[in-house]
Amino acid sequence: MYSENGEYRVSVCFSPLSWHLFEQDGALVIVTDIFRASTAMCAAFHNKVKAIIPVERIEESQKWKSKGYVSAGERDGKTLACADFGNSPFNFSEPGLQGKIIAMNTTNGTKAIRLAAKSNSQVVIGAFTNLTAVCTFAVHQRKEIIILCAGWKDRFSLEDTLFAGAATEKIITLGNGQFHTMCDSAIASADLWQSAKNDPLTYIEKAAHRHRLKRLGLDDILEYSLTIDSHQVVPILKDNRLIDIKSL
Ligand code: MLT
Repeated sequence: MYSENGEYRVSVCFSPLSWHLFEQDGALVIVTDIFRASTAMCAAFHNKVKAIIPVERIEESQKWKSKGYVSAGERDGKTLACADFGNSPFNFSEPGLQGKIIAMNTTNGTKAIRLAAKSNSQVVIGAFTNLTAVCTFAVHQRKEIIILCAGWKDRFSLEDTLFAGAATEKIITLGNGQFHTMCDSAIASADLWQSAKNDPLTYIEKAAHRHRLKRLGLDDILEYSLTIDSHQVVPILKDNRLIDIKSL
């Protein structure tokens, strides 16, 4: 995967805590939170929701709810008291949500999006379910690409890193010589993906959040979240809201 040739750089930031070392004006940032925020967002746009407002603080969620918006969110996996539903991609697939705007607040995912939004970069959302769609879009922008893993409370996360590896591999392949990486975290992610890609569902048994979800009875989303390319959507941040690129 190591490659010095190619005009544009690909790098991977393992934790929001390291973001200040990676952020770059004019870059394209792919934010990922595989279990479950970024997978849920892709499910929502596949289900044709109009927009998602990424929310960080619980008081903000209460405010959106009182204004009549659909409110989704969790803390440590548990649905927020002010939310209509939690963070399962299945919640976001309900037909009644078509055309709706959802204010969404999650432990790590929406926080990472808000962090990336502070830099002067284009922010898109990546999951296994939109892997090819998001990487194709990213490559066509002809910019430096940074993959930001939401992680768990600023810690490294295996599932986000697997996605980062799959995306690094895909970007280098689709970029056809235009992208290079000499970033150790991108190379480590790609190596991890190589060791897991034949059976990600078995590999993910090692992941802490997989077991957290199991304890909460929320682990019905594993296979769904690790399915590659089931959704042809690219959520992109515009005016502090996520919309699908098809509606740009
Ligand atoms: C997060 O944002 O931390 C996650 O998506 C948590 C979850 O809902 O599993």
